[in-house]
Amino acid sequence: MRTDRSPPEPLARGVRGLLILGGTTEGYALAEALSERSDLRVVSSLAGRTEQPRRPCGESRIGGFGGIPGLIDYLRAQRLDAVIDATHPFAATMGWNAAAACDALGLPLLRLERPAWQPQPGDDWQQIDDWPAAVAALQRSGARRVLLAVGRQELAPFAALDAVSFLIRAVSAPRPLPAFKDARVLLARGPFTLVDERALLADERIDTIVCKNSGGAATAAKLRAARELGVRVIMRQRAPRPPTTLATDVQAALAWLDTNVSKPSD
Ligand SMILES: NC(=O)c1ccc[n+]([C@@H]2O[C@H](COP(=O)([O-])OP(=O)(O)OC[C@H]3O[C@@H](n4cnc5c(N)ncnc54)[C@H](OP(=O)(O)O)[C@@H]3O)[C@@H](O)[C@H]2O)c1
Repeated sequence: MRTDRSPPEPLARGVRGLLILGGTTEGYALAEALSERSDLRVVSSLAGRTEQPRRPCGESRIGGFGGIPGLIDYLRAQRLDAVIDATHPFAATMGWNAAAACDALGLPLLRLERPAWQPQPGDDWQQIDDWPAAVAALQRSGARRVLLAVGRQELAPFAALDAVSFLIRAVSAPRPLPAFKDARVLLARGPFTLVDERALLADERIDTIVCKNSGGAATAAKLRAARELGVRVIMRQRAPRPPTTLATDVQAALAWLDTNVSKPSD
């Protein structure tokens, strides 16, 4: 793994440098797809939130850059030529920082983001913009047994709801767990199957799911199970992002690279 302080390797003639802002399925898949490319030096960057993060294929670094100025310095020091922002749809800051830094340096930037889930016939969704609105929606609906799948760092607003029994599903343990009156933590990492999601909702007598519109296949089964079982879904919508060229899958990102950054040499 490369640290920020490592000097960049001298690049062979024609080789271009790419920074992938990752931490997502798409970021890992893109790094893997580019691992054999001799025309690109690819550095994947992770925020470092997870205790033992899976390492992306190839070169990687971990930790924040220090805001927009830090990212500009990093891109300059590492002599990188392009950025692909593959951060999670709910990573609220990094995309704006990448847009500002690329704008300042005149570098091409691509946003790689999986499409949002769309409600289907039979769904009972309420789409909200923030967690206070989700809390209000839970109060209004009289929810009693809630599957809370919002990420371990975003639980606090829900602890005010004394009349609700929460099942908190998270990849790693919330530390500290906010002072809920009635909450249990279920540690689990997707992908989740429809069979398992159906069983979880039924066994736990869940009446409402609160989640983010992350999109993607790994955590979509809960929505189908909710539709089948008549479980209400309170779905947080994605926040606006900077206007950037968008690719919705890795193939589209590879095509963008070939047009805008570097072509594979055969
Ligand atoms: N939010 C979610 O629901 C969620 C879910 C799954 C995965 N993730 C992943 O977890 C990471 C952190 O999420 P977040 O919500 O805290 O994001 P965020 O609000 O966009 O980022 C906060 C700060 O974390 C640093 N950072 C974020 N992504 C980084 C990356 N890929 N490489 C280096 N530094 C990064 C940056 O620090 P500096 O300003 O110091 O550069 C950024 O300003 C993201 O990379 C995201 O892909 C987030």
